Amino acid sequence: MESFVYAGPAARVVFGPGTLSGLRDEVDRLGATRVLLLGGRADRAADVLGPLVGARFEGVAMHTPVGVTEGALELVGAHDVDCLVSVGGGSSTGLGKALTARTGLPLVAVPTTYSGSEMTPILGETADGKKTTRRDPALAPRTVIYDVELTLGMPVGLTVTSGLNAMAHAVEALYSPGANPATDNFALEAITRLGRALPRLAERPDDPDARADALLGAWLAGICLGTVGMGLHHKLCHVLGGTYGLPHSETHAVLLPHVMAASSPAAMGRIAAALGATDAPTAVFDLATRLGAPGSLVELGLAEGDLPAIAGSDPRVLAVLEEAWRGDRPAPLDDRPDLSALTEQVVASFTGAANPRTAELLGDLVRRLHGFVVDNDLTEAEWLGAIDFLTRTGRLCSPTRQEFVLLSDTLGISSAVDLLTNSRSPDTTPSAVLGPFYVEGPPAVPSGANLAEGLPGVPLRADVRITDLDGRPIADAVVDVWQSNQDGFYDVQLPELEGPVLRARLRSAEDGTLWFRSILPSEYPIPDDGPVGQMLRATGRHPYRAPHLHFMISAPGHRKLITQLFVAGGRYLDSDAVFGVKDDLIVEFPPAADGSRTVEFTFRLGAANG
Ligand code: BEZ
Ligand code: FE
Repeated sequence: MESFVYAGPAARVVFGPGTLSGLRDEVDRLGATRVLLLGGRADRAADVLGPLVGARFEGVAMHTPVGVTEGALELVGAHDVDCLVSVGGGSSTGLGKALTARTGLPLVAVPTTYSGSEMTPILGETADGKKTTRRDPALAPRTVIYDVELTLGMPVGLTVTSGLNAMAHAVEALYSPGANPATDNFALEAITRLGRALPRLAERPDDPDARADALLGAWLAGICLGTVGMGLHHKLCHVLGGTYGLPHSETHAVLLPHVMAASSPAAMGRIAAALGATDAPTAVFDLATRLGAPGSLVELGLAEGDLPAIAGSDPRVLAVLEEAWRGDRPAPLDDRPDLSALTEQVVASFTGAANPRTAELLGDLVRRLHGFVVDNDLTEAEWLGAIDFLTRTGRLCSPTRQEFVLLSDTLGISSAVDLLTNSRSPDTTPSAVLGPFYVEGPPAVPSGANLAEGLPGVPLRADVRITDLDGRPIADAVVDVWQSNQDGFYDVQLPELEGPVLRARLRSAEDGTLWFRSILPSEYPIPDDGPVGQMLRATGRHPYRAPHLHFMISAPGHRKLITQLFVAGGRYLDSDAVFGVKDDLIVEFPPAADGSRTVEFTFRLGAANG
């Protein structure tokens, strides 16, 4: 899990139908007595506030012009105001923040659109046609009252464009560098609510449930806007509004699906799921079209010749802008069929399993395999090729050749299962894969025996100790050892040999020790004349294992340990074909005076019930 910082808005939020009636209480909570009421449609708020209204300012304007703010500022001084209340869309909230910035007075925001501005500490102002933006936590409203009833009369056109504006905040939060699990959840919930509310509101603008959904979605999207940085969509909207004078929420509505089509496919997958669609950009485009939102930048009055300047030198951005300018439907990111119903049907078919673990494992396997098929757009020929590969793998299996285990080994699955099963305690000697060359019941030999009698190779003396986790010796432990010859073959691979060679069973003495003579193991290729070898060659992999000795150690009351010791400095330690090497198992095999090699190692066994 990655670390993150979440600095949420500190505002107190009062949400619901009719919540404006609590406005006076909210002003009281702030200890204020004289309100400057901002907004052209604030009569009901004025009624609720009654004698607390010190002054009213109705001349709110888009883009928060400094001249307008200065006009309102005069009222603050003239009427001894100690609290600001804004009622309206982003422009009213913006004026409230501009006054907070100049006076430090607390702001109670009553938003009536879905702009989300009330959840942000950001103030954008214009002076002499230039827009400046600042971010300061002190600018955010102290209290926000979302009264669903105030949005019931919002015209359908504004509902749609303002709703898509809110959706844009949530969409961009999902691929923002500042994204975190909290904002992801807010964003996806916002998208779901807005996605289901907007079509209902286009039909019935006064549907209270759909209005509540949309306003709640806008609130959550506003939190996203205020807490994580926005991306390409917002940058383009900023330029199109600020420099080319395009209307704010209409521009959002036009641009959103086209920017989405060029954005993180992973985020688009999550958005598609939140919308219950298979492809997010086309779903949003179709939604906007169905709801009658403006469909192109040309409709909003932008000249085609302005596009290169807006895109700068980025051809990807230019392509997005051109598509949005024409209003073309984005090409679906994902035109693959939706498999979810099929997957769920198969998963459900396992629920009758006698053992619940069977249902769990098979269900998850099917989900992942279906996901694999979809995510990779698997062709029939590829799947038949895989089945042929597995068929040949199975056909090669015999009592002396286990190609499926070899496949598991070379895909790292044996090592993964081994890690999960046997290496959970850091204090025990790490385990390593068994491999196909162990033979039950090796010949018992006394300590000091030579396992390589008469065989060519560099002579080796191995001294081992078996202890428990406290370092106490384990006496009479059964220690099976096996290894390859100097050419890299195990005895079972050499049919001309009679009887076991280079394998033995020893027992530890009272002090937990035993020793034996043998030869230095060498690197060797795993069997590569079957499908596994074919897979290795097809992927440019070599078939070699790093030089090693195998051990299987059992002692009553202790966990059985199956492991290997790797020769430090040996070849293929960092590219072992079966991913069996672990740092703690790489051991020095130093030379003795006579040129032979030695190795000493203490194996630590965990308790059987540990
Ligand atoms: C072995 O070390 O003997 C071995 C392990 C996995 C696959 C092939 C060989
Ligand atoms: Fe081996």
